[in-house]
Amino acid sequence: MCRSRISAASSRSTSRSQPRSSSARRPMVKTRAQTLPTISSVIITGAGGKTGKAVFAKCVQDAELERVVGVVRTEKSKKMVASFAPDAKDEDVVVASIVDGTSVKDVINEGKFDALICCTSATPRIMKRSIVKLLVTKVLNFIPGVNMKPAMPTFRWPENGTPEEVDWEGQKAQFDAAVESGVKLVVVCSSMGGTQDDNRLNAIGEGNILKWKRAAERYLIELCKGTNGKTNFTIVHPGGLKGNCKDLEAEGGKVQLTVGVDDTLLENEYRSIPRADVAEVLFHSLKTSEALNRSFDVASLPEGEGVPFDGDLGTLLCDGLPKQSVKGGTCDYTLGEVFPPSTSGVEEEEEAEAKTA
Ligand SMILES: NC(=O)c1ccc[n+]([C@@H]2O[C@H](COP(=O)([O-])OP(=O)(O)OC[C@H]3O[C@@H](n4cnc5c(N)ncnc54)[C@H](OP(=O)(O)O)[C@@H]3O)[C@@H](O)[C@H]2O)c1
Repeated sequence: MCRSRISAASSRSTSRSQPRSSSARRPMVKTRAQTLPTISSVIITGAGGKTGKAVFAKCVQDAELERVVGVVRTEKSKKMVASFAPDAKDEDVVVASIVDGTSVKDVINEGKFDALICCTSATPRIMKRSIVKLLVTKVLNFIPGVNMKPAMPTFRWPENGTPEEVDWEGQKAQFDAAVESGVKLVVVCSSMGGTQDDNRLNAIGEGNILKWKRAAERYLIELCKGTNGKTNFTIVHPGGLKGNCKDLEAEGGKVQLTVGVDDTLLENEYRSIPRADVAEVLFHSLKTSEALNRSFDVASLPEGEGVPFDGDLGTLLCDGLPKQSVKGGTCDYTLGEVFPPSTSGVEEEEEAEAKTA
């Protein structure tokens, strides 16, 4: 049941960036209300990241959460997170890698947490040579008569940091450990664009980042299904992220959020969202039954338009993405390429060839 309605002003369709409502076109189906599990302890992975550190800080400040642990990759990140969330105790920030499955597994298993918030992600590094090329082209184009095609920056993935390693293997390891240790809710910060196989983000360093993220989401959903309701999920797909969460008060709560499914929000002119607001959505997913076992997209209107998000995720979802819409207002995972591609056909062919040889 929706708890309250947003004001008429916030739902007025006056803006040119007003989100296209995918749910309005969908036939109605009935869905059962779900009961939110009691969450008093949470582990946040990727807590050294720009969004992850904000989620960690919000959880640390929350009086209802008795135990909050952030997982970072390096001692340097640990110091940074500790200064960002000064209320956290030293033992609340743990150094572990998600690529080494045993290390994250141990932390999750030993903690016996109620919830996991996954904010890890492969992060591409720009190739310095490509910046030089870009600058040289820009300078040369100032010369009269010169009209060179602008060079594009190119990226690489750090060692042990490809999307396949971090977003696929690393997330699977976290989800497996979560289910094994009895975590009741897994919240994932993923990305919009997963239904678009040709999204340009997939081309970065030939990493197929969105495809690996979506593959991990499918894996989590199937894993949760097998637990008969013991482990639940909430998957959040933000649009283009803004800000670096240095000052949460200054950066968050300034824009109206928009929600959707299946990348329809990408058709809007404005598709961005401040990281501080994404952190708020992830944090409130721990406390919002309407977000349970749903995967949804989130972006915002430009600052100054609409009503800023006040943390009421239940109302945002009820009004923007009613569960009565088809498939319960959640993303459709039959969309997008099945990834990783099945190799069984190739293996069978190779086996047959080997037999005839
Ligand atoms: N950039 C965008 O416009 C955009 C748009 C939509 C969605 N997103 C997604 O939103 C999420 C949050 O983005 P963000 O920019 O806030 O993230 P971010 O700052 O890049 O943080 C990623 C985190 O993952 C951690 N990590 C990477 N490899 C790891 C490993 N092997 N073991 C443990 N931790 C590892 C990093 O650790 P270190 O701190 O040690 O490096 C970092 O804390 C990501 O999933 C991103 O893809 C981004």
